[in-house]
Amino acid sequence: MSDISDLNDLTLESLTTRDGAKWSLAEPGVIPAWVADMDFPVAPAVREALARRIHGDLGYPAWLDQLGDGPLAEVFAARMEQRHGWRADPAHVRSFTDINQALQVVLHVATRPGDAVALHVPTYPPFLETLAEMGRPPLPIPMEPVGDSWGFDADALAARLAEGRCRVLLLVNPQNPTGRSFTREELTVLAELAERHDLLVVSDEIHADLTHAPSAHVPFATLLPERTVTLTSATKAFNLGGIRCSVAHFGPPALRAAMAAQPRHMYGAAHVFGVDATVAAWTRGDGWLEEVRAVLARNRSLVAGGLPEGVRYRIPDATYLAWLDFTDLALGEDPAEFLKREARVMLSQGPPFGPGGEGFARLNFATSGPVLSEILDRITRAVKSRS
Ligand SMILES: Cc1ncc(COP(=O)(O)O)c(C=O)c1O
Repeated sequence: MSDISDLNDLTLESLTTRDGAKWSLAEPGVIPAWVADMDFPVAPAVREALARRIHGDLGYPAWLDQLGDGPLAEVFAARMEQRHGWRADPAHVRSFTDINQALQVVLHVATRPGDAVALHVPTYPPFLETLAEMGRPPLPIPMEPVGDSWGFDADALAARLAEGRCRVLLLVNPQNPTGRSFTREELTVLAELAERHDLLVVSDEIHADLTHAPSAHVPFATLLPERTVTLTSATKAFNLGGIRCSVAHFGPPALRAAMAAQPRHMYGAAHVFGVDATVAAWTRGDGWLEEVRAVLARNRSLVAGGLPEGVRYRIPDATYLAWLDFTDLALGEDPAEFLKREARVMLSQGPPFGPGGEGFARLNFATSGPVLSEILDRITRAVKSRS
């Protein structure tokens, strides 16, 4: 097992040789802190499981790609019960390639073009792209600064829902990019609105395992089991973006029936590597996860202490993304451009996150202390040198 010093022991020299998107797409000399991949090596349990598979049976797996089948159904249900006291039904679980595919399947089966989908904005850009591509107009729920954190105006949402045409609440909890973990009270208000307006709730909880104390993750399905589709995967918390495997739990009986009526191969099939890696992460990876969570909790504070004056940062409740507000520095709509040019660091651009993204950039702080310090120093020097 690795320990925290291994996680801190990353050098720029070794990181720049990586061939994944995060490092290979950054210009030479630019430190990447954009896409939501962590720099840490993956959990030993995951590596062992994949090595076992390589040396073992690579034939067709002994399960069918349908609701309730495959090892992930039981493993997911056991994990939800153990971590959150949610008794998910393994018979209602199936795997997909990734979260976006699962979302598109749900929207395809449960809604029609023109049906609106409510979601907090700014948000994970591929969801906005999915809604645009599928002709499901977004009904934006603006995230607003509330003290040191973020919230939203539930009365304004209720008024927009009363106008009709909204069929789905697409909840991202913990939220990306703000890192907000919604409280039980906030989720209860959303649940009441979903009941009142007959909404299907699709709850993306992919960042839940990275919720920092004292915040606590509440699975939405514990509030509205029969209206909620839960989407998750091990890819964020266990740094496995390339394994292409996600899990969906279908609470609504009518949706399960509608899914079953579709041609069987329309949903694709999970790869045995993805399934093995996810099972290993969820059953034997928690020691590694606790170490990573400790580094991330420390890094949240390092970011707070290392930014120059004029950059506003609300410490996230969860995950490793810092949603930085550069509006006071008047760097234009897209401060990430300035940061790449002048600071030689690559953050995610704010505008693709939708309304509220202008003047912001998202910093990924899932790296070693020294690399993070270098990123923060570069930002500070670039900002200071222009004033
Ligand atoms: C909120 C959210 N949902 C879904 C995803 C996609 O994850 P994957 O491609 O592993 O399914 C991400 C990735 O960053 C994300 O932040």
